[in-house]
Amino acid sequence: MRALLITLAFVTLATGCIAGESGEPPVVGIRNMYNQPRYDTQERQPFFADQRSMRPQVEGTVSREMSSSLTWATGRAADEGYLLEVPAKLIASHGGSGPLLERGRDRYEIFCAACHSVSGDGKGMVSRRAAALGASGLIAPSFHDDRLRHIPDGQLFATITNGVRNMPSYAHNIPVDDRWAIVHYVRALQLSQAPVAAPENTEQSQ
Ligand code: HEC
Repeated sequence: MRALLITLAFVTLATGCIAGESGEPPVVGIRNMYNQPRYDTQERQPFFADQRSMRPQVEGTVSREMSSSLTWATGRAADEGYLLEVPAKLIASHGGSGPLLERGRDRYEIFCAACHSVSGDGKGMVSRRAAALGASGLIAPSFHDDRLRHIPDGQLFATITNGVRNMPSYAHNIPVDDRWAIVHYVRALQLSQAPVAAPENTEQSQ
């Protein structure tokens, strides 16, 4: 019995030590995922020649979500330059022009209107703030100017895909088909405010 008590006392003493504070890392018997070796964002990685731990995409990679048609994905036909119109097959695959326009309006108002405004006149909130601050390079242009009314649909698509000068690319937020839907909708916006020829004054000519 005494031996048992002594043993118990030793055990209590020994476990007592574990509760004490220590600067050492804790002893973990089964490590599971307790420590996970990883790189932080932008951390240096000596293994690769460019020392980037965030590896750039392998050139020519096509993800499952991406369209496998290069023409659809770039807005350009092999060597004929920009597509003049939204691909007809794409319009058909969305149930026709109406549903594609509806989708385009929805996406346009989410992704473009903040700068280009709901009517496309370039007076969105971001542009107005940029103007107030005197940052003229960040003011979005109006879609109703003559040059932009005449650029091919494929060029409009490529502008969203790659960005242009001070406007960033929206390829990572907007999937290919939605970009085409936006193009379709921007064309409708432009048409809605296109200058119409003044009607002839029939009274005078009589
Ligand atoms: C953060 C503000 C911002 C957003 C959002 C934005 N744009 Fe722009 N956009 C600009 C600015 C600024 C320019 C002028 C760039 C320059 O000339 O430096 C521009 C230019 C353009 C042009 C003219 C390109 C040319 O050939 O001159 C088009 C077309 C265009 N944007 C379409 C879009 C569409 C479509 C969307 C939505 C998917 C969009 N933008 C979203 C700011 C924006």
